[in-house]
Amino acid sequence: MQILLLGSGGREHALAWKIAQSPLLEKLFIAPGNAGTSRCGENVQLSVTDFFAIRQFVLEKHIDMLVVGPEDPLVKGIHDFFLADPGLCKIPVIGPVAAAAQLEGSKDFAKQFMVRHGIPTAAYQTFDAASLEKGFAFIRSLEPPYVLKADGLAAGKGVVICQTEEEALQELTAMLRDARFGQASARVVIEEFLSGIECSSFVITDGNSYLILPEAKDYKKIGEGDTGPNTGGMGSVSPVPFADAEFLRKVEERIIRPTVEGLMNDGLEYIGFIFFGLINVKGDPFVIEYNCRLGDPETESVVPRIKNDFVELLRAVAERKLAEHSIQIDPRFCTTVMMVSGGYPDTYEKGKVITGENKVEGSLIFHAGTTMKESELVSNGGRVIAVTSLGNNMKEALTATYRNADLIEFDGMYFRRDIGGDL
Ligand code: AMP
Ligand code: GLY
Repeated sequence: MQILLLGSGGREHALAWKIAQSPLLEKLFIAPGNAGTSRCGENVQLSVTDFFAIRQFVLEKHIDMLVVGPEDPLVKGIHDFFLADPGLCKIPVIGPVAAAAQLEGSKDFAKQFMVRHGIPTAAYQTFDAASLEKGFAFIRSLEPPYVLKADGLAAGKGVVICQTEEEALQELTAMLRDARFGQASARVVIEEFLSGIECSSFVITDGNSYLILPEAKDYKKIGEGDTGPNTGGMGSVSPVPFADAEFLRKVEERIIRPTVEGLMNDGLEYIGFIFFGLINVKGDPFVIEYNCRLGDPETESVVPRIKNDFVELLRAVAERKLAEHSIQIDPRFCTTVMMVSGGYPDTYEKGKVITGENKVEGSLIFHAGTTMKESELVSNGGRVIAVTSLGNNMKEALTATYRNADLIEFDGMYFRRDIGGDL
């Protein structure tokens, strides 16, 4: 099979690494990819949202399957684009159609979906510029802290937690009246603050049945002890010790199954991955958010624990035969630490030479923002390189990860030394 994988982060390198191990694979292309993915297949310089260029490439190279890593092309309708094109409509796309990707593309859509299907989530109301005054009244009726969410995609920055009423009123005004997040904050979801510890579950589904992938926890803040601004993710671990069998049973019964059935009942055909951002409130799971894709850097800790032939699973999804498969999970712990550019998540420089990767032993290296420049490996983004290790327990996995992270160097690099430390 010839597969085209869209994306260029650590998630895509981990997926490419796994896909490349399948005997069913003839050739893997990654668009646009990074220096790491080029070791698993061939990188192609295509933008993930240039559907016409993707179409031309897919036809030219006789691609048999499209696997979509990031949310942007899904929310913009790449699956719909394939279905509508006579030359592409038979080529399976792993990733939902736009109407179903609204689970991630619109917070208000996701909240309405959860309420409709009885899925536990924080109480909420949605406002727009015309109902700003009502939004103020709603904020005044709540206890602090206040959770304000831009309805649309805002590159992971659209959620603001305000400690005081004053701050919340100002933030709501900035979002709705001053377009703080552009069109994404034309509507704002205000919701009840939930207190608990977070983790994420992932499923792969063919729209009828689903397989639950290993759960994971990611570390979003730049600073140790979960301090400072939010990032794309500074590390991840899987499994998550507090997510015990009882908790995971509740997640499946109250959240996963009703979500997959809800999609079906709403007539939304969902092919691909669903990411459930969860919070554990005194032993009960609530949904914080849905994503229509896998997480990054969760994927780096999840994929190495999947023992199945990944292409076989993807093919089963495409053929709507997932029910005939089961998932085999490596019981070991997997930990990922993300090495980032100095200054990230604010301004940072690219093009720093990365050394030491050849000294790494006993860990996997997944590239995020990297590229080759005159045969040297250089940084090319905020999140640069992920170091991932398996171990018989969390400590063993972390020890290997940090031992190897200490071997990699580039000017200004930074990583958190406390990943998994809270667990
Ligand atoms: P999201 O972009 O939806 O993942 O939200 C970003 C972060 O905001 C989450 O990871 C949580 O830490 C926090 N958050 C979102 N919604 C709530 C909520 N209702 N209560 C408490 N924290 C929340
Ligand atoms: N790590 C969170 C995300 O991928 O959205």
